[in-house]
Amino acid sequence: MVPIGVLVSGRGSNLESILDAVDGKYITKGRVSVVVSNKPSVGALEIAKKHDVPTVVLDDKGLPKVDPEYDRKTIATLEAHRVTPKDGLIALAGYFRILSPQFVDHYHNRIMNVHPALLPAFPGLEAQKRALEHGVKVSGATVHFVAKEVDTGPIILQAHVPVRDDDTVETLSERILRQEHRLYPEAIRLFTEDQLKIEGRRVVLKT
Ligand code: GRF
Repeated sequence: MVPIGVLVSGRGSNLESILDAVDGKYITKGRVSVVVSNKPSVGALEIAKKHDVPTVVLDDKGLPKVDPEYDRKTIATLEAHRVTPKDGLIALAGYFRILSPQFVDHYHNRIMNVHPALLPAFPGLEAQKRALEHGVKVSGATVHFVAKEVDTGPIILQAHVPVRDDDTVETLSERILRQEHRLYPEAIRLFTEDQLKIEGRRVVLKT
């Protein structure tokens, strides 16, 4: 069983899609051991509690966005819940901090993130708004392994989403989010079933 640590900062809809996939036995070889939030009183914490998953708040108020010292505390919390570099998985689900290189090295190739655009297009914040402003006709969702540079790691799964003429940031975000909720549990299922192989920048299915 792969112990999964989910890092969150906000609403928690992706967390919920993962927890539902575990409860619904779509993911059978992993389970969420702990949810760690850098913000107190966010929706994601309520969702975790509803699913009887332990939660920890490590409030980062006043701290820099990248902070190896803060990340050391996160690692200690994850490891206390058996999310280790040997057999754990970290899922970033709307986590609005940037991981230090030390954290990324510690959990080498064991950290995933979901991003609301077709990477490498529109990395970083407000991806849906920037896609709309740029005038692209297609955007989408990406689940990828985390590398030291933000939103650059090997891509696991992507899904495209049409951009409609009358879209607003809200309507486009909602359409993309539906794909995020489908892709993230699928990527986690593949990882926990040991089906993924990283070859350079490419993630392929083991044969
Ligand atoms: C999602 O759009 C995700 O792609 C981005 O942040 C948002 C988090 O939403 N990284 P939620 O907290 O999972 O509802």
